[in-house]
Amino acid sequence: MPEDIRRGSSRGIADIDITRPNGARVYDYFLGGKDNFTADRVFANTILECAPKAPLGAQAGRAFLRRVVRFLAAEAGISQFLDIGSGLPTQGNVSEVAHEVNPEAHVVYVDNDPMVYTHSMALLSDARRVEVINADIRDPARILADPTVRSLIDFNRPVGLLMLAVLHHIDDHDDPAGIAASFRDAMPAGSYLAISSFRMPGAEAPELQAVTVENEKIVTSGFGSARWREEAEIRGWFGDWELVSPGLVSLADWRPDERTHTERDEIYHSFFGGVARKD
Ligand SMILES: C[S@@+](CC[C@H](N)C(=O)[O-])C[C@H]1O[C@@H](n2cnc3c(N)ncnc32)[C@H](O)[C@@H]1O
Repeated sequence: MPEDIRRGSSRGIADIDITRPNGARVYDYFLGGKDNFTADRVFANTILECAPKAPLGAQAGRAFLRRVVRFLAAEAGISQFLDIGSGLPTQGNVSEVAHEVNPEAHVVYVDNDPMVYTHSMALLSDARRVEVINADIRDPARILADPTVRSLIDFNRPVGLLMLAVLHHIDDHDDPAGIAASFRDAMPAGSYLAISSFRMPGAEAPELQAVTVENEKIVTSGFGSARWREEAEIRGWFGDWELVSPGLVSLADWRPDERTHTERDEIYHSFFGGVARKD
């Protein structure tokens, strides 16, 4: 784990760097939020020049989160969620959606961004049902042993483990497959894992591959890391857990509702997700 990632769940305002663009804040900007600074907006506009539909991608990611949490809470009976790479608390948070179904559901938000931590603490923390920690997904052992996590998540009962739009920010050398495996191994039978990730367009849309490689370079230049992965690699992050229908698919095809953006555009081909269950 890099040394600049501080341990503990107590990072604060002093740790927030507003001079450089930041993934959580640019995502917020694309979602129409106000928790972003000039550096974020300048970089967001650079992204928009090469990927004008990026805001639609952010909206598709957030809508997928909502459909997944509703499915887990309402149909799969999950009542405790560990949301890693949770992002800035915008409308339709995991706890908001889960509590619509089950007001007693427990949720722990995990993010390595200090601004996500301070905002989530201010808006979401409710020690009885919802907690927030500042931690890095690249250190699963620390997250799984965290006393705050353990105060709300009972690892003897099925857990809804969410890694939504976060593993594509993990470089190959930080071993996203190994990270996913460490979390999977700690979950009891009956748990579910939801993943969404940027995906390199496949043989069905070869014309998008070159531009995606260019976009990857641009986004990485601002955020440090952002990878569009091959579909087989993303599938591997689910290990031997069984994907629920419809499998690993474009976000638009995962149990869409009437608001789902269904155009077969670059967002459709390059943002995939799925949900799997541990037997
Ligand atoms: C694009 S946002 C996704 C937010 C939310 N999960 C969603 O799908 O709407 C990605 C989030 O992952 C967080 N993140 C990036 N790298 C991380 C890491 N190494 N450990 C924990 N969180 C990380 C960022 O701070 C950001 O809040």
